[in-house]
Amino acid sequence: MIEVNNESVILSLNSDQTFELPFLWLRDNCQCDLCRISETEEKQFLLHTVCADIQPESVEVKDNTIHIVWPDAHNSIIPINKIIESKKQRYPNHKSWPKKFIPNKHDWKSFLDDNETAIKTLKDFVESGVIILENAPKKSNSLELLSKRFGPIHETLFERIHNVSVTGHVYNVAHTSKGLPPHNDFASYKYQPSVQALHMLENECEGGESVIVDGWELVNDLRHDHPDYFEILSNFKIPFREFDEENETYAEAPLIQCLSDGTVESFRFSNQLMQMIDPTRKGIKEFYKAYHEVSKRVFDEKYRSVFRLNGGEVLIVASLRVLHARESFVPNGKRHLQDAYFVYDNAANNIVLLSNKLK
Ligand SMILES: [Fe+2]
Repeated sequence: MIEVNNESVILSLNSDQTFELPFLWLRDNCQCDLCRISETEEKQFLLHTVCADIQPESVEVKDNTIHIVWPDAHNSIIPINKIIESKKQRYPNHKSWPKKFIPNKHDWKSFLDDNETAIKTLKDFVESGVIILENAPKKSNSLELLSKRFGPIHETLFERIHNVSVTGHVYNVAHTSKGLPPHNDFASYKYQPSVQALHMLENECEGGESVIVDGWELVNDLRHDHPDYFEILSNFKIPFREFDEENETYAEAPLIQCLSDGTVESFRFSNQLMQMIDPTRKGIKEFYKAYHEVSKRVFDEKYRSVFRLNGGEVLIVASLRVLHARESFVPNGKRHLQDAYFVYDNAANNIVLLSNKLK
């Protein structure tokens, strides 16, 4: 079950579960009351206080726990269950949208009042990057109530809760009846909002269907078909700006950003906020070819879902993945939308929090 070699301990639980545990890892993960703050479960032990080539004097397994004695006579204990748990996946996997995808609708009140429904709804949100809440109040600022599930509102300049209608303050194409091409909001912030909730209070106008685009799917296909374009769009920084007389937002960032393992983390896209790029910049010609290709794909039917967002419905998108858009409408009735931003991590971690509460 246990074997000690030069640099690590090999723990074999059964034929398909073996862990190689480096000595420093073992010392760092000691669960005893001296090494942890028992009230908070936080780590107290400081790794630099032992030498980098530390070696155990003895290692044994008793009662499903690894016991180690170190040269300074410290006794470490590590329950094996804790090691197994560290391997567990924390969040649901992302899923591609099926053909003719329309986001699932979930009931506003049950989402807020019932923990089990909230877990299911948040899982759906993480998997597909989008949900619709139906039967929401048609009252202004109801988005504040979503904090219970999505954490505090992520405020930006302009407004805490943004009003989108043709009769209010016009600083963006969204405040006109023109079609709104696919984008995510505030590409002009280095740290763009990661969740956007769009609450339709009234939608009596003809037209104005909602459109969403799976940006990650699109970018992953681009990576497969044109790896060179993918590379350019991951590196070439583009300026974005949104402003009025009282507010100024500006950021330069590449359209595609990846995690350290290469998975796409964010697709930033906003035709309306993109600024003029210095034409003397190296690689501008190549960038524009890649940008042309990705722009074409943003309008490709393959990645889009079109539906009507009715009064009393809230469309919520994981906005670093899903772009949103609106078809043009005839301003022959009332149309009032409010939107607010939240932080994706809070939504995903609430799945864990609520599941622990139900246990
Ligand atoms: Fe928008």
